[in-house]
Amino acid sequence: MKGIILAAGRGSRLYPLTKVVNKQLLQIYDKPMIYYPLSTLMLLNIKDILIITNPKDLDSFKILLGNGSRIGIKISYATQDSPKGIADAFNIADNYIGDDNVTLILGDNIFYGHGFLDPIRKIIKNPIGATVFGYPVNDPERYGVVEFDSNYNVLSIEEKPIKPKSNYAVPGIYIYDNKVVNYAKTLNPSKRGELEITDINKIYLNNGKLKVNLLGRGVAWLDTGKPNSLFEASTFISYIEARQGLKISCIEEVAYNMGYISKQELKKIVDRLPDGSYKDYLFSFLISINS
Ligand code: G1P
Repeated sequence: MKGIILAAGRGSRLYPLTKVVNKQLLQIYDKPMIYYPLSTLMLLNIKDILIITNPKDLDSFKILLGNGSRIGIKISYATQDSPKGIADAFNIADNYIGDDNVTLILGDNIFYGHGFLDPIRKIIKNPIGATVFGYPVNDPERYGVVEFDSNYNVLSIEEKPIKPKSNYAVPGIYIYDNKVVNYAKTLNPSKRGELEITDINKIYLNNGKLKVNLLGRGVAWLDTGKPNSLFEASTFISYIEARQGLKISCIEEVAYNMGYISKQELKKIVDRLPDGSYKDYLFSFLISINS
């Protein structure tokens, strides 16, 4: 299973924050935004990850994350030269995906909550067709929206409908079999000029191969699209971290907990970190695993 993080786009709704800085590098409390989707993939045991970003931002991501070997994973990079849409990721990643299955996560989607990962872990062991998720929101018209019958069979999926047929939005994590690569080649741009991920999902739906799993209400799917939601996401993370004394999406801690790096490798990382609360946290974590 390959992983893709799409970290491109203009981030226009966050202008001027995004005039210089890529949206997925903006601050979510104490880390760059991309740490959150990256750690989601890592926790799903996906260790071969392609980051797709804008040409101008490529070097920044490379400085931040390198080739991933420091945290025991493999990170490759590709660029999307203009904002052609989410589904364009599969055209860009065609060779990278090869014969594999693929999980795509949007670089601005943050998931948090008990019980979120386990069902996904099962699916990615043996992906059949496409699996996407449904999450109740009070503003479904901003998202892909899925409609169910009374037995939760999927009836339709629509991108940003003016009159949503349900309040279930489709969050930005998608699991596909290898057919997605060919399906992406058949798409035409939508009215907003993009290759829509919803159109990929419609192909799977028409072939009877789209599964929609509902995310429980105990899962937080955070939006970071507008200044206020960006701020609220930071506040959410800061509350939980302060209460528990545990960091969310600390990629070095995740790498150790997942067995991607040894205690000695973690120690080397910690030794090289600049002084500050992030180092203090990982230092305490090291002590706790030593005792
Ligand atoms: C995109 C997708 C949409 C999905 C959303 C999740 O929206 O097109 O189907 O629900 O991500 O974040 P966009 O970010 O392009 O507005």
